[in-house]
Amino acid sequence: MENKLKLTKPEQGLNGELHVPGDKSISHRAVMFGAVAEGRTTIHNFLMGEDCLSTISCFRKLGADIKLQEDAVIVEGSGWDSLSEPAEILDTGNSGTTTRLMMGVLAGRPFHSVLIGDESIAKRPMKRVTDPLKLFGTAIDGRDGGNFTPLSIRGGSLKAIKYSLPVASAQVKSAILLAGLQAEGVTEITEPQRTRDHTEKMILEFGGEIERQEDTIKLRGGQILSGTDVYVPGDISSAAFFMTAAAIVKGSRVTLKNVGLNETRTGIVEVMRRMGARMEVMEKPASGERIGDIIVETSDLNGIEIGGDLIPTLIDEIPVIALLATQAKGTTIIKDAEELKVKETNRIDAVVQELKKLGANITATDDGMIIEGTNTLQGSDVHSWGDHRIGMTLAVASLITDSPVYLEDADAIKISYPQFFEDLNILVK
Ligand code: S3P
Repeated sequence: MENKLKLTKPEQGLNGELHVPGDKSISHRAVMFGAVAEGRTTIHNFLMGEDCLSTISCFRKLGADIKLQEDAVIVEGSGWDSLSEPAEILDTGNSGTTTRLMMGVLAGRPFHSVLIGDESIAKRPMKRVTDPLKLFGTAIDGRDGGNFTPLSIRGGSLKAIKYSLPVASAQVKSAILLAGLQAEGVTEITEPQRTRDHTEKMILEFGGEIERQEDTIKLRGGQILSGTDVYVPGDISSAAFFMTAAAIVKGSRVTLKNVGLNETRTGIVEVMRRMGARMEVMEKPASGERIGDIIVETSDLNGIEIGGDLIPTLIDEIPVIALLATQAKGTTIIKDAEELKVKETNRIDAVVQELKKLGANITATDDGMIIEGTNTLQGSDVHSWGDHRIGMTLAVASLITDSPVYLEDADAIKISYPQFFEDLNILVK
């Protein structure tokens, strides 16, 4: 059982309150905007996961002044021109957000840089970002004509573009917005479906202007952004694991405090409601991102169909939604989610293969999966595939298996939730 974590079912339900760590998407963006703004940015509740630390490390290599304090991250910004040519390769680790958003930052910087990540990043498509960045006028290349890392960028003066996104991707949209801020003229982006809008919200928080009319976003280049205080809400994508756990483990009632409720991220709440979950969402007043408490109790669930515009609002939650569906009566169909194939792993294959080992009745489709519930799950050896969200999904599954689950490469969880098991122990008394 070497390198495998033994996970056993708790004696009782999950009970109590938890503050899940800060939102990953917002933490990345706060560092990036802090570094290119003028003046000090103080980031509260920053996610100290490996992905966000990769963003800090890349910006430090560009000369950014970033201090990690016990309760905050301080970024002393001096504008775009303060970034300088890195003497080293920029290593983005496992982080797609770091890689793609950095490309947008570097596109307008008048120097040479090289981006590289881990084995997973090396397989993730980057042409979706290199294509629009080339239209801005930047010189960018990489393996397979610029589709894969290592990527080499020589930035320069950019001219604004009008671009219709071929895939619904907040990472691609954000890379274009970051290049657009450095370009001459007004950049226009049209989205095929609404994706998370943390970049747009953050441009406003940093004193910038950005407009949205229906599915088109307009951004003027050359704006000066000002450093600010950023309060990062709890990550709903992390909360989703405990929302699911509370719903499927008998005798549970869990309160997740101060979770981000941005409507481009709350698909999981809608899905759980439609499945019949016993839950309550209590929103609190907030100035930037929406925030509130989510309470979930053990629930009788029904299978549903999930697809269309809902998919981008819960794309990262699909692995754990698949687990939830194994405990729902009837059929759950997840469709229109082919993007899952190009996440940290092919998440359709990973979820289907690993949940099958636990006895789930789950089938892969071209654009998602079909799950027949309810299933009694049993213990087995399983693998995270080096993917944090697969690892946490399997750890939550172990809360209802009738024998232990042995999870290989549980360390992957540190990418987005370093204290996941400590937090789980708070709820399992
Ligand atoms: C993210 C956007 C999503 C998401 C990822 C984080 C972001 O990716 O899956 O975990 O921070 O912008 P895509 O935009 O590529 O769908």
